[in-house]
Amino acid sequence: NKVVLAYSGGLDTSVIVPWLRENYGCEVVCFTADVGQGLQELEGLEQKAKASGACQLVVKDLKEEFVKDFIFPCLRAGAIYERKYLLGTSMARPVIAKAMVDVAKEVGADAVSHGCTGKGNDQACYRISLNVLQILYFLGEWEITGREDAIEYAIKHNVPVPVTKKSIYSRDRNLWHLSHEGDILEDPANEPAEDMYMMTVDPIKAPNEPEYLKIGIVEGLPVSINGKELSPASLLAELNEIGGKHGIGRIDMVENRLVGMKSRGVYETPGGTILFTAARELESLTLDRETIQIKDVLALKYAELVYAGRWFDPLRESMDAFMKEITKTTTGSVTLKLYKGSVSVTGRESPNSLYRQDISSFENGDIYNQADAAGFIRLYGLPMRVRAMLEKGL
Ligand code: ARG
Ligand code: SIN
Repeated sequence: NKVVLAYSGGLDTSVIVPWLRENYGCEVVCFTADVGQGLQELEGLEQKAKASGACQLVVKDLKEEFVKDFIFPCLRAGAIYERKYLLGTSMARPVIAKAMVDVAKEVGADAVSHGCTGKGNDQACYRISLNVLQILYFLGEWEITGREDAIEYAIKHNVPVPVTKKSIYSRDRNLWHLSHEGDILEDPANEPAEDMYMMTVDPIKAPNEPEYLKIGIVEGLPVSINGKELSPASLLAELNEIGGKHGIGRIDMVENRLVGMKSRGVYETPGGTILFTAARELESLTLDRETIQIKDVLALKYAELVYAGRWFDPLRESMDAFMKEITKTTTGSVTLKLYKGSVSVTGRESPNSLYRQDISSFENGDIYNQADAAGFIRLYGLPMRVRAMLEKGL
């Protein structure tokens, strides 16, 4: 029998190859999704997989699908977990799981496996997605706990070890983000070392001149940079380049994992930070007060579901239908200024703008009659006035 393993070439997924063979006596087909983790991670992967004992490596390019069908919906929804996390890893797991099911069919495997630890969110993201897409048999829960143990196991089984015993950040990279966990970050009081960062320059070393960018948006989804139309993946790749150069999108946080513990993570999301700023800003023109409120309330739940591995939950899918409908008029452009780690908005335009200068202007117009305000405010404040009267015994 055969098992398909979600494989990255990193420590955990390398060590689990001989472990699966030893414990189940099965052939291991490694599967690597190209979600934009970069050539550095993809190069030499086949030899590495085979050296670890895999019979085959399958690589699939999922970049466009990942950005278009997973990242962009979250962007349109405004999904952010615990005020900061832009969900880079959580969004990647379901697209990988979906492809894993196809790979399992292609190679005739009846089981799947992953090298995630039992302490994090990744395991949930894979298992829940895979169970929903197709009931496949999961091979063994990983029992090697701790990176030191894993390194020892690797050395014993002649698995090429991708990390030295010293630098042992746990990282996850794709087109949207790069996450860093572990090592000195485990003490939330520690400032990350500058040489840890890989996608963004130190804002102090960023150019001394600001750079202006115009992001074009159609129905809540980004389509162009400075008037140039780009596919979802190339648009994001270009913004990562520009944002990284200006030191944009470093996020340092302590988050609550699904399994109950707190965890300190540092994320680099340069392009994503630019896109979130632009997409939300355009809504200030196209959505009214209550719509924004309800959208933001739902976004909170949407983010929680994605974080917890419930991408394929009908609840998220239904909320996504709402997000799609409500952003139908969010078309236009936002002009941003990038400067030393910050992205600020300098302008926004939309053919569907609800902003009307003839109404809002400090100059007098005919639609808004200032005399209407007095009566409106009297009635609007009536409940508070009644309470105040009660308290004063009037
Ligand atoms: N804490 C983040 C999440 O749960 C990032 C996880 C990173 N995963 C990894 N295998 N390095 O989504
Ligand atoms: C892991 O446990 O494999 C990484 C961290 C996480 O899943 O949150």
